[in-house]
Amino acid sequence: MPNSEKSVAKPLKVVAVNGSAYQPSRTRVLVEALLAELSQSLVLETHVVDLAEIARPLGAALSRDELPAEIEAQIVAIEAADLIIAAAPVYRGSFPGHFKHLFDLVGMDALIDKPVLLAATGGSDRHALVLEHQFRPLFGFLQALSLPIGVYASTADFNGYEVGSPALRERIRLAAERAAPLFADAARQPLRRVA
Ligand SMILES: Cc1cc2nc3c(=O)[nH]c(=O)nc-3n(C[C@H](O)[C@H](O)[C@H](O)COP(=O)(O)O)c2cc1C
Repeated sequence: MPNSEKSVAKPLKVVAVNGSAYQPSRTRVLVEALLAELSQSLVLETHVVDLAEIARPLGAALSRDELPAEIEAQIVAIEAADLIIAAAPVYRGSFPGHFKHLFDLVGMDALIDKPVLLAATGGSDRHALVLEHQFRPLFGFLQALSLPIGVYASTADFNGYEVGSPALRERIRLAAERAAPLFADAARQPLRRVA
């Protein structure tokens, strides 16, 4: 193949959705840690959708054509992502209602075969399976490819608003390590030489 026809590897477009209604947000800390870990091996182009910033106008729109332009743009970015990080705090045993409302307005077919890394935070470990019984069915309905390794963190895994526990750090590392090989066409970080 002539050089001019060789495809150049592009950064991986990652759009993270943080379903927390508040700032600061431990879910946001988890999202940033996942992005940082993924960027160890892949060149990323990242965008974070913070529900805390858009939940009120989002909630007022009952259909896509009622959305303000800036929220429509966020949904378009979600639909165009190579990888979505779908992250939310547990509210009453599930994801927050405004998080579901956002995905209710995403195009029915827009997430088909799109990789989605699931992540959640909660007050305790008692809701750690929320990823399995709440998040997976939602993204299964949308025919997205929910990655096998998701990340759940409870308040005890954080030091304030920093990742605190070695177990959470290891889970984040594992999630990124297992996700990276799925994006064979994406630009990769140069290998680091060990002296
Ligand atoms: C309305 C509401 C409901 C909550 N329900 C639960 C729950 O059912 N289970 C749980 O473990 N934590 C629950 N929590 C705690 C949050 O999930 C937890 O503090 C989370 O880490 C907050 O994330 P954030 O810092 O990103 O906002 C709830 C918090 C709020 C505000």
